Amino acid sequence: MEMKKILAAGIVFCMGIQLFCACGKEEPYEEDKVYVGVTYYEQSDTFLSQMISCLKDEFQNYEEKGYETAMLIRGAGGSQRTQNDQARELIDAGCNVLCVNLVDRADPSEIIDLARENNVPIIFFNREPVAEDMMQWDKLYYVGALAAQSGILQGEMAIELIQSDSGIDRNKDGKIQYVVLEGEAGHQDAIIRTENVVDTLKSNGIAIEKLSYGIANWNRAQAQNQMLQMISQHQNKIELVLANNDDMALGALDAYEKLNYTESALPAFLGIDGTDVGLEAVRDQRLAGTVYNDKEGQAAAMAKLAIALVTGQGMGEIEFQNERYIYLPYFKVTKEMAERFLERKSWR
Ligand code: BGC
Ligand code: CA
Repeated sequence: MEMKKILAAGIVFCMGIQLFCACGKEEPYEEDKVYVGVTYYEQSDTFLSQMISCLKDEFQNYEEKGYETAMLIRGAGGSQRTQNDQARELIDAGCNVLCVNLVDRADPSEIIDLARENNVPIIFFNREPVAEDMMQWDKLYYVGALAAQSGILQGEMAIELIQSDSGIDRNKDGKIQYVVLEGEAGHQDAIIRTENVVDTLKSNGIAIEKLSYGIANWNRAQAQNQMLQMISQHQNKIELVLANNDDMALGALDAYEKLNYTESALPAFLGIDGTDVGLEAVRDQRLAGTVYNDKEGQAAAMAKLAIALVTGQGMGEIEFQNERYIYLPYFKVTKEMAERFLERKSWR
């Protein structure tokens, strides 16, 4: 048993050495070895940190199935320039496929040029490049989810809440006074989620009144600050907080907790993502609900595609939309469902 472990450790060690020594540019690639280079926009992002760990698990699974894989992961600290350098470093280190979560989704050209020169395919994820940039080369792919669907599902959850709990309309004026906490300006998931949640409420005949909105860049602390300002402006008039992600919904809740609001005086909060902290808050009824952004599904799709691109096997089994896009569906998560999602039990 012990001997086996030492042997296994030795093999893993040698594979690591090979990646860095045998894969210099002058060496031909050994196409059955999948060397994945990952770079993502910001290490402090809750959703992406969890998604990256799903991606590690996926490649680990392939490793256990007998594939030879190695992964290098870089966080870009919010700088596109840093990310461009990282892409170069990953390619120089011998990566034969890149997974890129762009810092600036409108500025992928340098990374695309670099990848094309070295014939290294790119799987973009979560931050979708604009369509024209996806046309720059035929080895560019995207894995993510459709923002509109998450907005619609969040809207449906809001409707169910409003119709089942007359207490949401605190001032009994027949309208729901709401505020929005929005993600980064320019991110496909920010404006589209907001538009769709609001349209869903309106088109279902729910009378709503927008009191305010704030951009909090997906960030819990920024959302808390924005919410403190909105509370000071509107006091207890706010009945519903629609947040583009869970971290911002939780930041809004932090603001009320900081001001010592009692539970009965709180508005309802809805998020999107189903991060672990988000799911726990839904389970504990601190958030009224969230919409699951299927990081496990997205990571599985990326790993499968990466393997297929490098080995040339299994490409035919992958279902693309528009030839090079893979979108995973979102799911509603109510308090009854939260535990199931937390335990990663199958919900599909
Ligand atoms: C997620 C956010 C995340 C963002 C990062 C979105 O899809 O909902 O939580 O911060 O992606 O790009
Ligand atoms: Ca009202």
